[in-house]
Amino acid sequence: MERLQKVIANAGYTSRRKAEELIRNGKVKVNGEIIRELGTKVNHTDKIEIEGEILTNEDTKVYYLLNKPRGFICSVSDDKNRKTVVSLIDTDKRIYPIGRLDYDTTGLLLLTNDGNLANQLMHPKNEVEKTYIAKIEGNLSPSEFYHLKKGLDMDGRKVFPTHLKVKKTDEKSSIVEISIVEGRYHIVKRIFEALNHPVIKLKRERYAFLTLGTLKSGEYRKLTLKEIKKLYNLKP
Ligand code: URA
Repeated sequence: MERLQKVIANAGYTSRRKAEELIRNGKVKVNGEIIRELGTKVNHTDKIEIEGEILTNEDTKVYYLLNKPRGFICSVSDDKNRKTVVSLIDTDKRIYPIGRLDYDTTGLLLLTNDGNLANQLMHPKNEVEKTYIAKIEGNLSPSEFYHLKKGLDMDGRKVFPTHLKVKKTDEKSSIVEISIVEGRYHIVKRIFEALNHPVIKLKRERYAFLTLGTLKSGEYRKLTLKEIKKLYNLKP
């Protein structure tokens, strides 16, 4: 027996928080009866219906690594009708992205219907390292570089790059490689904004041990079994 909101989230239908909202709003039926109680336990024989749609038991888990193009939103659907990253992948499974990249950010994004792995990887305590290439306005001065390296205060909490390297500079802009282990909203853009060097372009090149390899923008591949196991076994 498992909690209803967990079963809905694990089936890849939506996040656990949204599942709770659906339950509270009376949108979920179990065996034909509307359930509003969040703690309700269900098992695999119970028929779960969300806004009239029957939740299928998606036993087969799928895992994709996508090179996200700019101009795609990291969600399953969008109320402004923008293109979603999910639409780039040819599958009949209800997949969703693990974490988010901004609409205009490109690069490595994982998608899956495995709620357990997604929740594990997105949990702040798991600290998955991600590497970005940022094109920023202007050049970092030695003191700005040092300041950032030592940790920058963002909303009362420090953010420490685990790796920082200026790859290229010209008189107008710089290319900076930065690795961080956290996933706060717009974190890389906010870091450079705080230093008065706004991000012009942003690409994620690495997620934990995974890289884009030869994937071109918009291309994707399935993760191998070995990679999936390795993601499950990532140590904080
Ligand atoms: N940080 C950002 O600012 N944007 C992203 O898309 C990812 C990390």
